[in-house]
Amino acid sequence: MDPAAASLDVARSKAGAAAVTWIHGDATDLPESSADLAVMTGNVAQVFITDDDWSRTLLAIRAALRPGAHLVFETRRPERRGRNGARGTSA
Ligand SMILES: C[S@@+](CC[C@H](N)C(=O)[O-])C[C@H]1O[C@@H](n2cnc3c(N)ncnc32)[C@H](O)[C@@H]1O
Repeated sequence: MDPAAASLDVARSKAGAAAVTWIHGDATDLPESSADLAVMTGNVAQVFITDDDWSRTLLAIRAALRPGAHLVFETRRPERRGRNGARGTSA
């Protein structure tokens, strides 16, 4: 799922895309108790810059997951430095 239609267009153009149900929206649009795994990739977790945004998203994801399901996401550790001295490398 993605709130950006253009991103969904790119995803739909890739091999195997027909096997995926693409949803235009955000986590609040997910059907309840419908998933065994939620994965947030591509730095999406960094979109949520306020505690309220992050909480709203996590609560929506929790509602969408079945009991025993998992959420996997990547984030940044500001104290880490990557190549070129850039701050905030992936954790
Ligand atoms: C760097 S791109 C990653 C695209 C793709 N998911 C990937 O992993 O290659 C980040 C994507 O996050 C999407 N995004 C922004 N806000 C979002 C949200 N609240 N929920 C889900 N996706 C969001 C953006 O529209 C953008 O397409």
